[in-house]
Amino acid sequence: MQTNETYDDHVIRLFLMAASIWGIVGMTIGTYAGAQLAWPALNFDIPWLTFSRLRPDHTFGVIFAFGGSALIGTCYYVIQRTGHTRLAFPRLANLTFWGWQLACVLTMITVPLGYTQSKEYAEAEWPIDLLITVVWVAIGVVFFGTLARRRIQHIYVAAWYYGAFIIAVGLLHVVNNLVVPVSLTKSYPIYSGVVDAMVQWWYGHNAVAFFLTAGFLGMMYYFVPRQAQQPLWSYRFSIVNFWALISVYMWAGSHHLMYSALPDWVQGVGMVFSLVLLMPSWGSAANGLFTFNGSWQRVKNDPAAKFMVLALVFYAASTFEGSMMAIKTVNALSHDTDWTIAHVHSGSIGWVAMITIGSLYAMAPRVLGREAMHSHGAMEAHFWLHTTGVLLYVLSMWAAGVTEGLMWRATNPDGSLVYPFIDSLMTIRPLYVVRALGGVFMVTGMLCMAWNLWHTAADARRSPVRPVPVPEPAHDSPVAAAAAG
Ligand code: HEM
Ligand code: HEM
Repeated sequence: MQTNETYDDHVIRLFLMAASIWGIVGMTIGTYAGAQLAWPALNFDIPWLTFSRLRPDHTFGVIFAFGGSALIGTCYYVIQRTGHTRLAFPRLANLTFWGWQLACVLTMITVPLGYTQSKEYAEAEWPIDLLITVVWVAIGVVFFGTLARRRIQHIYVAAWYYGAFIIAVGLLHVVNNLVVPVSLTKSYPIYSGVVDAMVQWWYGHNAVAFFLTAGFLGMMYYFVPRQAQQPLWSYRFSIVNFWALISVYMWAGSHHLMYSALPDWVQGVGMVFSLVLLMPSWGSAANGLFTFNGSWQRVKNDPAAKFMVLALVFYAASTFEGSMMAIKTVNALSHDTDWTIAHVHSGSIGWVAMITIGSLYAMAPRVLGREAMHSHGAMEAHFWLHTTGVLLYVLSMWAAGVTEGLMWRATNPDGSLVYPFIDSLMTIRPLYVVRALGGVFMVTGMLCMAWNLWHTAADARRSPVRPVPVPEPAHDSPVAAAAAG
């Protein structure tokens, strides 16, 4: 395979491959877990195959293994291109790849076996957490080391987002995983009661903020202008949104603990900051979408751009929904129902997965040494399979969530419940079948992607295309820096 002479792309190819494999693994587990909610017998009475064990395996697999691999790979790609420099520590970068994959494999195996801290999105036990901490610090050293040796003075906005993602996730991971180990496989958190809940949701919420949002915004700010072949709609607006987003997000975590033992005023703070958060969220979504102004014709024939456009639409939709769900009276209806699951997935399979897939399609030919992906048809098929899957998933879970919420709150004049809990489950069961079907569509799409990447790499081995040398920008404007990739 042709290696890119200008940049250290070997490690990026590895992360690209890992993201594609973990995407299939994580989404298949999600589909299977979803199918179990429609057909519970699918757990075959095997402990490691039960829903309670597969669910955290799914969330770790898609967020950290799939999303994490894509984020680290693209951040190494973007920081080299926008800084016009190679990676500061290429060997360490390779080690971060193997370290991250080891942490992912260990977690994916130990969680179904029942080894867990029982903290959502932080299930891995302390030895794996230590490994993650070491790898994360190494990722920071590679990223900031490369930033320090950049040849373009200006730091493009995408790098700001990636930098915030690396610093904040490191901080969150360490604070939330402070535990007292009692054996190699068991530990207890140093926090207890409501403090433990607050620290957990400060972590959980900011994992959404800095892992599932800031990192992917970094991806969006780099790859959207490239794919639209236009400068960002407003560069100044992107900087305003960056500072607004990172200063507001940290204070909104208590919206996960409405009507709990948390002091009422803390819940109020979470609600107010969640409403304010809508502004920078929509600011970035609008900036991305407006960047396509004038190139909509091109979008029609470019599946990567289509993924990006829909990702931005879902980003706007899920953040609007999130702000509404943070209003206490709305949360009284939505909390603990599948409405939350619909919101999570309009954010994750709509925004996160789509911006990732679009960006990987944009990046893959360049790091593999080809002009384009092997099959345009397979990319197009992936787009429609994924979009159909997302719509089936999100629409069915919205309907299920509102149905559950209304059935659970219906009371007779004497105050007793109108519906036993099991009635609500039986009512929404067909919707669980629809969600599982949506999963099958999305997994099929991911298989198309893996097939296409494999053949693009094979094409590159047979007839490599020498990568176009990266031009020095005429001036050090951020747009030129972004376009130079
Ligand atoms: C084929 C695609 C997918 C399917 C079929 C799927 C299915 C599921 C299922 C069945 C659950 C458990 C719901 C419940 O407890 O009632 C779940 C939870 C979750 N999934 Fe997915 N998922 C998919 C993709 C993704 C992706 C790509 C991400 C993130 C990037 C993601 C993030 C999550 C999260 C964060 C939760 C926990 C939600 C919560 O606790 O409220 N999923 N998923
Ligand atoms: C303005 C932005 C957003 C706000 C204000 C917001 C607000 C909320 C609220 C109020 C909940 C329900 C909490 C509950 O009742 O338990 C929630 C849950 C959740 N949201 Fe968001 N959201 C936003 C954006 C996003 C995005 C973009 C994603 C994904 C990429 C996301 C992922 C999640 C997840 C994973 C949960 C479930 C957490 C759990 O219970 O396990 N959110 N969000």
